[in-house]
Amino acid sequence: MCGIIGYVGKRQAAPILIDGLKRLEYRGYDSSGIAVVENAKIKLIKSEGKIAELEKRSSGGKKLNGTFGIGHTRWATHGEPNTTNAHPHVSNDGRFAVVHNGIIENFAELKSELIADGCKFASETDSEVIPQLLQRIYDGDMLAALRTLESRLKGSYAVGIVCADEPDRLYAVRKDNPLIIGLGDGENFIVSDISAALRYTRKFVLLDNSETAVVTPDGIKCYDASGAPIEKEPYTVDWDVDRAEKGGYPHFMIKEIHEQPRALTDTLRPRISDGDIDLDGINFDKSYVDGLTGIDIVGCGSAYHAGIVGKYFIEKHCRIPVVNILASEYIYSDPITDGKRLTVIISQSGETADTLAALRLAKKLGSKTLAIVNVVHSAIARDADSVLYTHAGPEIAVATTKGYTTQVAALYLLGLKLAAIKGTITQKRFTDLVEKLEALPNNVTEQLAEPEVEKVKTLAARYADHHCVFFIGRGTDYAASLEGALKLKEISYIHAEAYAAGELKHGTISLIEQGTLTLALTTQTALYHKMESNIKSVESRGGTVLAIASPANSHIGECCNDMLTIPECDDDLSPVLTAVVLQLFAYYVALDRKCDIDKPRNLAKSVTVE
Ligand code: AGP
Repeated sequence: MCGIIGYVGKRQAAPILIDGLKRLEYRGYDSSGIAVVENAKIKLIKSEGKIAELEKRSSGGKKLNGTFGIGHTRWATHGEPNTTNAHPHVSNDGRFAVVHNGIIENFAELKSELIADGCKFASETDSEVIPQLLQRIYDGDMLAALRTLESRLKGSYAVGIVCADEPDRLYAVRKDNPLIIGLGDGENFIVSDISAALRYTRKFVLLDNSETAVVTPDGIKCYDASGAPIEKEPYTVDWDVDRAEKGGYPHFMIKEIHEQPRALTDTLRPRISDGDIDLDGINFDKSYVDGLTGIDIVGCGSAYHAGIVGKYFIEKHCRIPVVNILASEYIYSDPITDGKRLTVIISQSGETADTLAALRLAKKLGSKTLAIVNVVHSAIARDADSVLYTHAGPEIAVATTKGYTTQVAALYLLGLKLAAIKGTITQKRFTDLVEKLEALPNNVTEQLAEPEVEKVKTLAARYADHHCVFFIGRGTDYAASLEGALKLKEISYIHAEAYAAGELKHGTISLIEQGTLTLALTTQTALYHKMESNIKSVESRGGTVLAIASPANSHIGECCNDMLTIPECDDDLSPVLTAVVLQLFAYYVALDRKCDIDKPRNLAKSVTVE
């Protein structure tokens, strides 16, 4: 996730901005920059790579004089990670410098309009439309200009602004992305994350959506969306830096679980407009899609599991055979592929060695490759023929959560796009599924509400001492159960195994004994009765069953020991919601077992060796 810091006060701004950016390094970034205003002129230094490089280029900030400015660490979403694309971005007339977190969904349309108006863009980013728009809107009244700006922007944004014509003040405006004002003594800050200013103050004011703040050395003035002044209540933070970096959560994993509504919104919304799907311009022509003999989906771990969810969805709606292959197997299996097979490569980090090798082999064998990746400009992103990014933001915890659910969301987008091209889905069903896709972030928000989380916590405490757990399901619930088992075992060290519910009786059911815990995913209404009999066969052997059910199937609870339900959603999309429940279950079991949740033993976040 990008990081923002702004300073206005009596001290030299640049060294404070650089220090603040260092506190944001943990969030993951690929470039950084600062802008300071000196004698009504904006001075800018940016660099690719680590903050240390920015520090070197600016001689620790000494090259920039001035007592107010802004700084940014960039996590690339649009445009490669390089100095040109690093923030701050400056308007053509040099009067506005801007730092931005979030995604401007309508940036392409705004950029064309600005270019037609003679604007010269320096970067490939969506963010640069903000200073260029400001230049054309501003007529001396910044607050009015910001209200007009907000009326033009679609998407999510936290924006820090300095204007060369407006000395000793910072402007801050936000929508669906955090922006906080730090209140110092004769100096004030704007930050995306309190850890950037915690060294200087523990007193903060949270800006709410569509509110604007004008920050000067002596204080702040806040305004609502209509421009009316509002009073904001400061709050004091007693967190240490470690807790601040996790946004107040005890672990990165639970923070990232709670970031999923945002991550899903950022992954889905920019690709859906007027009820249609645009995969960032990735075009498959009908003759290619009609000529496909199959789709291979390749990945490791959770990425592989996401691919299996994708298989069920794509085969159902596109009627194209899909094969899921572990990357480590693919590269040594002399794979049968060619120009008539699409290879979908899935990787959160974009650096997994096995997956990168599989990508390169598929290309060598003539298959068109599409990568679903979270890290812009990563090795897999660079090598694939096309890339559909998940916009999950940086994922710090080793156990992926938002990385996985956004991969599944990206596969739903791909499946619907291909089905529409192939003509294997009716317009009605397409529209219905697109609407249900757009509702997923809200469904997840519902799941993360306190009362729902408490229900999971209670059951996690009840079952935390088990040593062997089964996850069963049918159809897309079986696909979802694979990820549920991996989440539990990788952070709680409990042996967990996913099984197709109908397959249990072919051997594995011999392991079920008194009290053996089985989590039974029961969201597929068409398979309800089959699941019911599988659950009963587990219980008749003394097994304990915790059902994870959709509201329509919640009567399964009558024959289970316990049940957790997911919000109402389309059966085809339930793996995103069952994933959230199972992530929470794994997290609270691991917490109860006092495991090292963010850094589980023997694991690395990205396995860059074969
Ligand atoms: C998931 O929780 C694990 N950390 C692991 O299985 C991971 O999904 C796998 O190593 C693939 O990583 P990638 O998505 O970065 O390629």
